[in-house]
Amino acid sequence: MVSMVCLVVLGALAGAGWGYGLGGCPRLGYMPQFNISRFSGKWYEIERSFYLMELVASCVSVEVEQKRPDQLEVYVSSRSRVSGIFSISEGTATPTKRDASLLLYRVSSRLPKLLNRYLPGAGYYQVLSTDYTSYALLYSCSNFHLFHTDLIWVWARSKEIGVGLRAHIYQTLAQNRLDPERLTLPKNKNCTDDY
Ligand SMILES: *[C@@H]1O[C@H](CO)[C@@H](O)[C@H](O)[C@H]1NC(C)=O
Ligand SMILES: *[C@@H]1O[C@H](CO)[C@@H](O)[C@H](O)[C@H]1NC(C)=O
Repeated sequence: MVSMVCLVVLGALAGAGWGYGLGGCPRLGYMPQFNISRFSGKWYEIERSFYLMELVASCVSVEVEQKRPDQLEVYVSSRSRVSGIFSISEGTATPTKRDASLLLYRVSSRLPKLLNRYLPGAGYYQVLSTDYTSYALLYSCSNFHLFHTDLIWVWARSKEIGVGLRAHIYQTLAQNRLDPERLTLPKNKNCTDDY
């Protein structure tokens, strides 16, 4: 019975493009000397490892502000493809003791429904790799009893990235045994200039 439920859950997650695997979350190496102040500023979502079916959020951008030495304010804005309406959610990200690049994220505003599906809400996000000036690779993983699910995001400082950078990002994913094929391009047409 339990395994039936697991299969159904796994099937649903796979359908939504979530990755999953048996056993606990993989331990991925931390990037050296992660600097949260250099990580702040504006990021655009370039690719992610999941689609949102009918509710696809497009034009996602993230504004990261360092308000305190050990805390980042995070504003995620996105547009609903259905209503065309932009919405913003607010949260905070705090470096954990384990490593500065492993951030504990908490949503502080009430999430619009759409973003509720976009962000798994509170949780740990690991900055797998970033050069601060062009790209950032984020990873989040949740442990369930017998399996885990994980999500990957590619953020960039500009709305588009070149072939060389994309290749570098895919290579970094592969080095972490994450399949770049999982990434999908969100629909970022007709965004505003702000996106
Ligand atoms: C982080 O980056 C800022 C801005 O470049 C710099 O002033 C600061 O010294 C760096 N912090 C560390 C611990 O390297
Ligand atoms: C973008 O907007 C134009 C003009 O409003 C419209 O014709 C086109 O279908 C839109 N494209 C997308 C992908 O929504």
